[in-house]
Amino acid sequence: MVDQARVQRGLEEVVALESRICFIDGKQGRLIYRGYDIRDLAAHATFEEVAHLLWYGRLPNARELSELRSRLGALRTLPDPLNRLLDSLPVDASPMDVLRTAVSALALYEPAETKPGASAIAGAERLTAALPTILGRFHRRRRGLPKPEPRPQLSHAAYLLYALLDRSATELEERALDVALILHADHELNASTFAARVTASTLSDLYSSVTSAIGALKGPLHGGANERAMELVEQIGTPDRAEAIVKEKLARHERIMGFGHRVYKVEDPRATILREWGRKIGESTGDLHYYEVLERIKEVVQREKNLFANLDLYSGSVYTPLGFPRDLFTPIFAVSRVSGWTAHILEEYEDLRLIRPSAQYIGPTDLPWVPVEKRT
Ligand code: COA
Repeated sequence: MVDQARVQRGLEEVVALESRICFIDGKQGRLIYRGYDIRDLAAHATFEEVAHLLWYGRLPNARELSELRSRLGALRTLPDPLNRLLDSLPVDASPMDVLRTAVSALALYEPAETKPGASAIAGAERLTAALPTILGRFHRRRRGLPKPEPRPQLSHAAYLLYALLDRSATELEERALDVALILHADHELNASTFAARVTASTLSDLYSSVTSAIGALKGPLHGGANERAMELVEQIGTPDRAEAIVKEKLARHERIMGFGHRVYKVEDPRATILREWGRKIGESTGDLHYYEVLERIKEVVQREKNLFANLDLYSGSVYTPLGFPRDLFTPIFAVSRVSGWTAHILEEYEDLRLIRPSAQYIGPTDLPWVPVEKRT
């Protein structure tokens, strides 16, 4: 039996495995992907370079980058049966449920790639390329728009915007989305990545592992927080209302989505970067009201609870002006995080050890058997 004192609720501070992919310094507010600071990556890299970094362990040279872009472009088309499935799903379904269903179904039509081991990296590229098309096909259908074409010449960020919204991105929009994708690409052993690694550690396949991860990401304490944070911004409406509404919520012991973090004890460095992109997008449209409301919310929560903003607080300030509805925020998170999930799954396969912790049993052990007819 496990010693009661050792139970770590929520596995807080438990070091479950060794990894070379991502490092978080929660005290200094630093985030590193394979040795590179997130601030440098957000300033200079593209999502495709970051995905290569996560999967292959190093930045690509010019030829490798161009080859990766071509492969991703060529992998955007979905098998016909999956298209038919997507076209038959209820239009009022949650896009996260659609994504989870579609990733699971895609495995049925690509059996070679679903096997763990040798083909996993091809599966990582395939899933990363396919996710915007899956979401685009579903979202356009519910909006009565034409089906997306693969447009292989577009970057991943520009294709994501085109696939979902049926329009081209401006240079600023493409870069803003590219940076958002870079910031969401990986985050050590967060709940969804852990879910992916638990599934992979049973020697299950890549698609099953990613399906597990999507289910974990959906929850409001994880990826779903970005949609809830935007709900609050819309409820508040104007900066002058923020103080009273946030204080009321705190007095009712409600959680303010987009604040607090299991690992960061200072502001999440990704939040700092995305806040600036929210401001830039606001300036370009001449509407800074999301930025201003968020600034007020941040001040109040920091002052009242000493809690710092996390990345999810700011997604909406970039995505909403671009035209993405709220229920696509968490799916867009998945479009990026699939690169990190798959990097972790690949790492799990390389150094496999079944993940199977123990529980402290606190129930009874010596109950006498009672026949069914004698039970009250
Ligand atoms: N709003 C209000 N209070 C919060 C809070 C928030 N967003 N986050 C934490 N707290 C409070 C808790 O109520 C608790 O207070 P108490 O000790 O008085 O009960 C204390 O801070 C510690 O919270 P706890 O839930 O134990 O910390 P955690 O490490 O388990 O939580 C999160 C991490 C992310 C789950 C938590 O901060 C949260 O729910 N945040 C909102 C959801 C979110 O933004 N998720 C995205 C994370 S990237």
